[in-house]
Amino acid sequence: MRATLGIDLGGSAIKAGAVDAAAGKVVGEVQSVPTPPGAPLAATRDALATLVARFPECGGAVGLAFPSVIKHGVAHTATNVAQAWIGTDAAALLTAAAGRPGYVVNDADAAGMAEMRAGAGRGERGVVMMLTFGTGIGTALFVDGRLWPNTELGHLEVDGQEAEHRASARTRTVERLDWPAWCERVNRVLERYHALLWPDLYIIGGGVSERFEEFGDLLRAPARIVPAQLRQTAGVVGAALYAADAAGR
Ligand code: BGC
Repeated sequence: MRATLGIDLGGSAIKAGAVDAAAGKVVGEVQSVPTPPGAPLAATRDALATLVARFPECGGAVGLAFPSVIKHGVAHTATNVAQAWIGTDAAALLTAAAGRPGYVVNDADAAGMAEMRAGAGRGERGVVMMLTFGTGIGTALFVDGRLWPNTELGHLEVDGQEAEHRASARTRTVERLDWPAWCERVNRVLERYHALLWPDLYIIGGGVSERFEEFGDLLRAPARIVPAQLRQTAGVVGAALYAADAAGR
């Protein structure tokens, strides 16, 4: 079976990889280009076309994990990308850039789908919440393995501020927080999520999850807390899974 191309647009890089959708993993190298500052439409479309051209072995549909509410391919919010994305048919833009069918999904939802299929959430029932800590905080919610899309709980107010302004990985870097100080903030966020949704399991993802052994013991919640397993490739894998599923429907 041919691999499906998955692309993940993050705050600093756009990553792409050929994904074996059945196995839920990247085959070969992940390639990346810098995210054009502010991710304006035209420059982003060009960057997507550049990445697609590097994977001639991938056929069929292309998936993109994008940091915005996405409904039927259209972006509805733009927190860390250009405002012009709001109302833009991101799937049509991707299709034009790739020259073949493009499907777009929220980035945290993509990462969560990948973890549920092939990572830390495999076989998990009940309420599972995937959190991606990066430029913002992404959230993906699953009930008995089924996604509730676009939960966007990184924007929930916690102690008078949006959760992602207090506790994203970027905030940790910008404010030079050590692990205990950052985890104290994350724990407040988890407490708020718990009061709303009572998850059974939190999966901690995003780039920072690669250092989970340095801070994981400091996290507290009345639920299990585990690191993501696909780490930096979760968004790429999830985007490809989404595209493969959507193209097959
Ligand atoms: C965006 C979400 C995204 C998250 C992680 C937030 O600012 O609103 O759509 O999932 O950042 O990238």
